[in-house]
Amino acid sequence: MIKHNYFNLFIILFVLLGFSLSCQKPEKGKEQTEKIEGLSGDIQQIAQDRGLSPKDVEAALKTYVPTGKYDDYLMFASGGHSGQVLVIGVPSMRLLKVIGVFTPEPWQGFGYGSEESATLLKEGEMPIGENKKLSWADTHHPALSETEGDYDGKYLFINDKANARVAVIDLRDFETKQIVKTANLISDHGATFVTPNTEYVIEGSQYATPIPFNKYSPIENYKKDYRGLIVFHKFDRESGKIKEDESFQIVVPPYGQDLCDAGKKVSDGWVFCNSFNTEMATGGIENGNPPLEAGASQNDMDFMHVINWKKAEQVVEDGKFQVINGAKVIPLQTAINEHILYFIPEPKSPHGVDVTPGGEYLAVAGKLDTHVTVYSFDKIQKAISEGDFSGTDEFGVPILNFDNVKEAQVEIGLGPLHTQFDNKGNAYTSVFIESTLAKWKLGPPYNTGDDAWTLTEKIPVHYNIGHLVCAEGDTVDPDGKYCVSLDKWSIDRFTPVGPLHPQNFQLIDITGKKMQLLYDMPIGIGEPHYVQMIKVDKLNPWLVYPEVGFDPLKMAKDPDSAQPGKEAIKRNGNKVEVWMTAIRSHFTPEHINVNQGDEVTLHITNIERARDATHGFAIDGYNVNLSLEPGESNLVKFKADKPGVYPFYCTEFCSALHLEMAGYLFVKPTQVSERTQ
Ligand code: CUA
Repeated sequence: MIKHNYFNLFIILFVLLGFSLSCQKPEKGKEQTEKIEGLSGDIQQIAQDRGLSPKDVEAALKTYVPTGKYDDYLMFASGGHSGQVLVIGVPSMRLLKVIGVFTPEPWQGFGYGSEESATLLKEGEMPIGENKKLSWADTHHPALSETEGDYDGKYLFINDKANARVAVIDLRDFETKQIVKTANLISDHGATFVTPNTEYVIEGSQYATPIPFNKYSPIENYKKDYRGLIVFHKFDRESGKIKEDESFQIVVPPYGQDLCDAGKKVSDGWVFCNSFNTEMATGGIENGNPPLEAGASQNDMDFMHVINWKKAEQVVEDGKFQVINGAKVIPLQTAINEHILYFIPEPKSPHGVDVTPGGEYLAVAGKLDTHVTVYSFDKIQKAISEGDFSGTDEFGVPILNFDNVKEAQVEIGLGPLHTQFDNKGNAYTSVFIESTLAKWKLGPPYNTGDDAWTLTEKIPVHYNIGHLVCAEGDTVDPDGKYCVSLDKWSIDRFTPVGPLHPQNFQLIDITGKKMQLLYDMPIGIGEPHYVQMIKVDKLNPWLVYPEVGFDPLKMAKDPDSAQPGKEAIKRNGNKVEVWMTAIRSHFTPEHINVNQGDEVTLHITNIERARDATHGFAIDGYNVNLSLEPGESNLVKFKADKPGVYPFYCTEFCSALHLEMAGYLFVKPTQVSERTQ
């Protein structure tokens, strides 16, 4: 029997009310015509005509990136339920790219006929019934690869919360290279996070299910059968791939695991994951049970999961695991016996756990608490080594004494969620219900005396900030330049575009004494949850593919690619193989004659070396559309099952004679029908 706690229900009501109230505080358009000191006559006039205040003009100067100049940072944003990744320049807040990841993306030919993308999407498939294809994902947390806890600009990882998948993007060409469907898991959230040298990509489960998820068990068996998993995907830099045979999973209680973060520097070797449902509430509102939201909010404390991944790695090496669906799984009891897993009480349904740059502290923020609670890694280690436990949970996991591992609690405001850091000992926390971004001071060694652990400033954001990002603000070496507030539906910041409102990224300058809001960027694609921001000089992307005939899936030259002068059409029985090149402004060959029912294979190479010479290749009526970047070789396979004449053409405006870059696929019917006789 679950006790009703009216205080909790009150808090939930307050959360909901807070959300709707904060959505109803539009500011009037500024009617600002004051004179701005020091501006020349023309500029003064522009500012006055546009109603810009001195602050507006200053903000504009700080964000404007003139034509031909580059941004200082790139943000990699999850594309929410678009299933993609967005690449955005900072401080200009210009969208530079949408990377097709889990979802077909026609403009870059991802999932429209190329064998490269078909292979990727197929690898990440999971059975969802006959003749049904998984066609969406919910991307949440991008993670840049790290070396010694700092972004190295080589790879990007992203999860699919809806289906428990993880993708790898290579930052040489900003393209997806691998999609892994995680064995046994169907729902994740604490993903992706990397260990400091990208040894592992971490994926924590969210909603508990039986393990594996496709094993049926009724909700009455929740405590007995339902479990969570913390998954450690082994990443191999050499091949740029996750190696599932070297990965492992750890079973955890069905507590609704939330975000994770890897320890760094002094806390390297450990991983920390929140949970929000130690009540093990299962909802069932239709049967008179408390709704899940109330049921999961009864306890004053939930449990942070403290995991010794280096030890877990050793336990796997020693063979102490089960194999479930091909995955190495450390059972919960083994994790307890081998001292891999500990719990720490954390206030009321926390969301974010964020490790400070030096790895000394973990900042945890509870949605239903007004504090950020800070834990000391030193104290955690001491408590573990001394066996200072307040008991165990009902599964037998040792619980550390809250008071003995807590370092500080900083009063922040209503609904603190996530924390990032700068290079001056400050922390920045998103405050959801209040719609503010709060700045506060860390304790020693960052700040000492009365300054330590104090709230210093808050600025309003519009509205309902979820995550935030600061420049390299979750690494060992934050830059202290910009933060971006990742806000939910912006009801009054932009020209209305119908009832589905864009989300809002707000750029904030944190270099001055006071934080300054600089710019609003509408996000019209999905709900970006989390973002990482990297200095552009850490990236070294290719401008064209390194060789003519390069296969982006294998990241090597395809020996069977079409090469200039070697174009050909060959028939072998009902198999037709075509080697085709593309160069401004023609395909070779331009006529492809096949018979209805033929199996057609096209090897197409863009043989250009110029940076602005991407070609497309679309076949009308056959659902084929490729993007062929300079040097790229691609493979298309289809059955010519429809007779007729199908033009193919280049879908990129590649030259003045781009319209003429076309040809015909002739599909001769095998049986001439009576009507046409
Ligand atoms: Cu090639 Cu248009």
